[in-house]
Amino acid sequence: MIRLVALAAGLASLGALALPALVHADDQDVIDYREHIMKTMGAQADAIELILQHKLPSDDDSNIAAHTKALALAASTAKAAFAMNVAGGQAKPNVWTDSAGFNKRMDELASNTDALAKAAETGGVEAVASRIQSALTCKGCHDQYREQKKK
Ligand code: HEC
Repeated sequence: MIRLVALAAGLASLGALALPALVHADDQDVIDYREHIMKTMGAQADAIELILQHKLPSDDDSNIAAHTKALALAASTAKAAFAMNVAGGQAKPNVWTDSAGFNKRMDELASNTDALAKAAETGGVEAVASRIQSALTCKGCHDQYREQKKK
């Protein structure tokens, strides 16, 4: 609490920052935050997919390690982003009523993507190609814990 107050005071001295939002995250902020993390993972997974499908003009695959690392980093932040019990977005209520199951999947994703990033560092595109399907458990969780898109 003391650190938060000090932080708020520090930011106040910077000028017109939206302090109330920082001190009191409202529900939409909590939902937006976890959705940003998911979108980051989606963007990285899409970038990796394009490299794996050789759809880019150059066959330079040197970015694959960076993309898998970014994916792993984002995945490492995802579990905590859902820890606050704020229903909404496309999250189903069982994210919180079955938090043990949900968190287990989040832990799995974090360790899978971490291993994927390490494999990419040494094995490059080939190592990623052979592991990606089993590493990305995205759909299994979405099927169970995420509402179908209504659009
Ligand atoms: C443990 C469960 C779980 C795993 C694993 C998971 N997701 Fe999600 N994902 C969710 C939930 C729940 C939502 C809905 C969040 C919300 O709207 O509040 C979501 C939403 C999303 C969205 C939509 C975000 C938006 O606002 O449009 C994308 C994109 C996404 N996930 C990508 C991924 C990718 C890519 C992976 C795998 C690398 C992944 N997710 C792994 C549970 C998971």
